[in-house]
Amino acid sequence: MSKDTIKPRAVFATRIGAIATAVGSAVGLGNIWRFPFEAGTHGGGAFMICYIAFIMILGIPVICAEFIIGRHTRANETRAFRRLAPGTPWHLVGYIGLIASILILSFYSVVAGWTLEYFTGSFSLFAADATTADQHQRFGQFISGNWRPVFWTITFLAINFAVLLRGVQKGIERLSNILMPIMFLLLIAFCINSLTMPQASEGLRFLFHPDFSQITPSVLLSAMGQAFFSLSIGLGCMITYGSYFSDRTDLIRCASVTALLDTGVAILAGIIIFPAVFSFGMSPQSGPTLVFEVLPAIFSQLQGGALWSILFFFLLFLASLTSTISMSEISISYFMEEHRMSRTRATTFTIGIAVILGTVCALSFGPLQHITVGGLTAFNLFDYLSSNILLPLGGMLISIFTGWVVDRRIIRTQITKGSRGGSHWLRPIVFCLRYVAPIGIALIFLNSIGII
Ligand code: TRP
Repeated sequence: MSKDTIKPRAVFATRIGAIATAVGSAVGLGNIWRFPFEAGTHGGGAFMICYIAFIMILGIPVICAEFIIGRHTRANETRAFRRLAPGTPWHLVGYIGLIASILILSFYSVVAGWTLEYFTGSFSLFAADATTADQHQRFGQFISGNWRPVFWTITFLAINFAVLLRGVQKGIERLSNILMPIMFLLLIAFCINSLTMPQASEGLRFLFHPDFSQITPSVLLSAMGQAFFSLSIGLGCMITYGSYFSDRTDLIRCASVTALLDTGVAILAGIIIFPAVFSFGMSPQSGPTLVFEVLPAIFSQLQGGALWSILFFFLLFLASLTSTISMSEISISYFMEEHRMSRTRATTFTIGIAVILGTVCALSFGPLQHITVGGLTAFNLFDYLSSNILLPLGGMLISIFTGWVVDRRIIRTQITKGSRGGSHWLRPIVFCLRYVAPIGIALIFLNSIGII
């Protein structure tokens, strides 16, 4: 029997289940931690406007492309390419996804580890006599330490391991679907609180008022990377999820709802962080540590700060878990299906690599901070390579593949299945996938290395 035997695959029973899972993968640290710090270091409004433009012209078409490939082939990424274009090198795109997913899993787990530190340390962090300066100092000491960041990174990966091995993802996803609306409400409450801060308008101006002269090649590249990272696209996550969608799922609707909610959460995070940054006299440019320095300052101003903090960091941890589960599945399904490993071995292997690389990333804020490549520490290098290079590259290839190689009838069938108005979107989507996305991404790459 060929390796390509079609097994009946599980499908999501309800339409809302499909959307909720895609949103579960998309919403995570990318929105709440990465978006504010990237916007902070890349000029606020200038970054924001590019980010939103990229979500619309690159992000939505690429999610649709991933869903189309996934639902049509009902297979993992590498196999999906093999099935649609047998005997061609297209399946190699799967390797980009594989490498990027392991790099992302490694540094993402470090930050998820920080959420665990805050979750468990909230009571002492918000002890009555703790000042903002104390909290700031404590965080600095924590991330530059030798073992605590490593301990939390490994703990987070161990939780992933347990969930992935027991196959209880469904349970976690269900829990997360119930709790995410609470997270949304919490974010809205924190937003209202931030808007009452003395320098709120300065924060909002920073985020929403674009200074077009600040749109540099590096702002464009980072905004594009953030759009891909935040939507979980470019490495085939959404191909795998699309393969579980039932024929009743409206792909375009699912893609747009995912993009809308994902962007909404990122903007809420920005509205929480920037008014506070300016009101507390902090710098928006502090990089990956920004959100973890600003949030405690916000919580200590609230009555019952420790409780808000525990609730918030628990929900953030859960949101991170649903995202890392989706990344880990890429390499687990690859090792299982292409190298015939058992689920246990494939999971051990994937998490094992992430533990080693994650430890290096965790230490790169302290003992290893002087070991750099091109001025970037391990943590920043992994983030830059995967988000700014590999994801857009993967996205570009997925667009070219869907726009030029996949039979247009397949695209039409997938777009119109489960949808009444889907056929109107065929032309614009194919146009974006054929021309706009590949040329746009290529131009931004060339621009960022100084060629144009
Ligand atoms: N999008 C997630 C977030 O914002 C992270 C993520 C999950 C991801 N799966 C991915 C990013 C696949 C890129 C590719 O936190």
